Amino acid sequence: MWKGRDVISILDFSRNDLEALFEKADYMRKNQYRLKNELSDMIIGLAFFEPSTRTRMSFETAAKRLGADTVGFVSEEATSIAKGESFSDTIRMLDSYVDLIVVRHKYEGAALLASNIAEKPIINAGDGKSHHPTQAMLDLYTTKTLFNTIDGLTFAFIGDLKYSRTVSSLIFGLSAFNPKEIILISPPSLRLREEIRLVAEERGLRLREEESMEAISDADVIYVTRIQKERFPDLQEYERVRGSYRINKELLNKYAKDGAKVLHALPRIDELSRDVDETKFQAYFMQARLGIPIRMALLSLVLKGE
Ligand code: CP
Repeated sequence: MWKGRDVISILDFSRNDLEALFEKADYMRKNQYRLKNELSDMIIGLAFFEPSTRTRMSFETAAKRLGADTVGFVSEEATSIAKGESFSDTIRMLDSYVDLIVVRHKYEGAALLASNIAEKPIINAGDGKSHHPTQAMLDLYTTKTLFNTIDGLTFAFIGDLKYSRTVSSLIFGLSAFNPKEIILISPPSLRLREEIRLVAEERGLRLREEESMEAISDADVIYVTRIQKERFPDLQEYERVRGSYRINKELLNKYAKDGAKVLHALPRIDELSRDVDETKFQAYFMQARLGIPIRMALLSLVLKGE
């Protein structure tokens, strides 16, 4: 089911696939300090053409917890791309050195292109503005861990729904389950793109657009996202929406349900106040921590199978 597969889009994975991943992640969480032999014969390539803190370091930590080695780079400037080498040749080289390649890139389709070049499995660590499948797997796993279910829950997505690949990927991932409703709260110019909405609705999700933060009162999961400055084609457009929304403790105490949880893929800028950190709603630090077991599970399933 998982062995040897590329992980390019979460849309390629069924509910059964994802449930097997969550089961494996539970196992990794319980045993993470005792699995040094699991991938001790493997080398993982970390090809980060775009900046990252959590995704890169959690993949590296996950690989090391399983006994694997890692090689790689953290920016194009650190590779011979700076001398004019192509993306294709860079991937071809890495493919001949390692057993699996994790790719992050600013351009949509980069991971798919890498998978057409490489013989080894490719894992998309976020490319362009639509796909970040391992973040979506992590977000679904966090939800399952918090609520013991994904079915029947209401999700509110807040912020830059136009350029956030964590939002589109999680919406795609939710379409493998049966959530009650997806509420989309954003400034008018940062609404979810039509092509994402169409896929979500075709796959049976119920979406509702709102502009007022009051709409979080129906949500179990409040998923906040930063404005993705680096993906705006026009910086003036960014300046117009910058600082246009902010989730804080007062707003959550006023509108959120008692058991609601705030998720954020991080990094945060000013859209999520630090005064939320000490509230009962905060679940984003746990979400970041679960990046280790979910990526341990991914590496193990793709490289070794069930
Ligand atoms: N959540 C996430 O993708 O964070 P990084 O950009 O730090 O990897």
